[in-house]
Amino acid sequence: MNISDKHDAEHQSAPLKRVTTRRLQDMKKKQKKISCLTAYDALIARIIDEAGIDLILVGDSLGNVVQGHETTIPVTLEDIIYHTKAVVRGVQRALVVADMPFMSYQISPEEAFRNAGRLMKEAGASAVKIEGGHRVAEAVRKMTEAGIPVMAHLGLTPQSINQFGSYRPRGESEQEAEEIMKDALELEQAGAFAIVLEKIPMQLAQKITSSLMIPTIGIGAGPYCDGQILVYSDMVGLTIDFSPRFVRRYDNLQERISHSVDSYIQDIRNCNFPSVDESY
Ligand code: KIV
Repeated sequence: MNISDKHDAEHQSAPLKRVTTRRLQDMKKKQKKISCLTAYDALIARIIDEAGIDLILVGDSLGNVVQGHETTIPVTLEDIIYHTKAVVRGVQRALVVADMPFMSYQISPEEAFRNAGRLMKEAGASAVKIEGGHRVAEAVRKMTEAGIPVMAHLGLTPQSINQFGSYRPRGESEQEAEEIMKDALELEQAGAFAIVLEKIPMQLAQKITSSLMIPTIGIGAGPYCDGQILVYSDMVGLTIDFSPRFVRRYDNLQERISHSVDSYIQDIRNCNFPSVDESY
């Protein structure tokens, strides 16, 4: 066995240390960037967990990606529970965060608290994510005091699409930027362990990041955040009809899957599949 085989063998036999909210906060202190992706099923969750991702979000973006809706509004708490259960089964290391869908936390802090409890207890999430600033701070306080870790989400909050009417960047005006900054400080005070910053100017994200003790996770918020998140299907090029500037595509799986299926169809039509070796 050479040195690198020995290292691999030791590495493989070491028990996997689960990522915790504390670990993410330590990473910020040590200036180590945090990698995050969404996942909605056990198969993808296992692949990205084994690749070493730090945090997996069962995002309500599953409304667009999995269910084919135009917005995240129709996603229900039961949908998030179902998909979180599947993701949790596939994950050994990453922190699994379940998104709180539209109308699961807006009615009252008590309702938010009860629903977050279901995501932890029934679905097996290790934390929840909630969109909004000042108006959700009380709910965040209630949850964190009871031991439910909460990731906040500021800037573009897709559940408010009907209020804003567009997916334009947020925080470009001085007033909006001040509001986002104020909300970030209030959410940290309320006990949030991290904050997603979506589609805001990078200078604003930098200012928020350096003002907070908790990590910021950017999506379209520039390079100064403590971590980054993308929707996995955008990142691997499965969803090609959605191309905002913040998505970096690392593959073109849509084309590759389409090509594989085309070859499969041709093989069947040409009696090339199955072969004798593929038969019993
Ligand atoms: O639902 C989601 O996937 C999200 C991320 C884009 C942050 O909220």
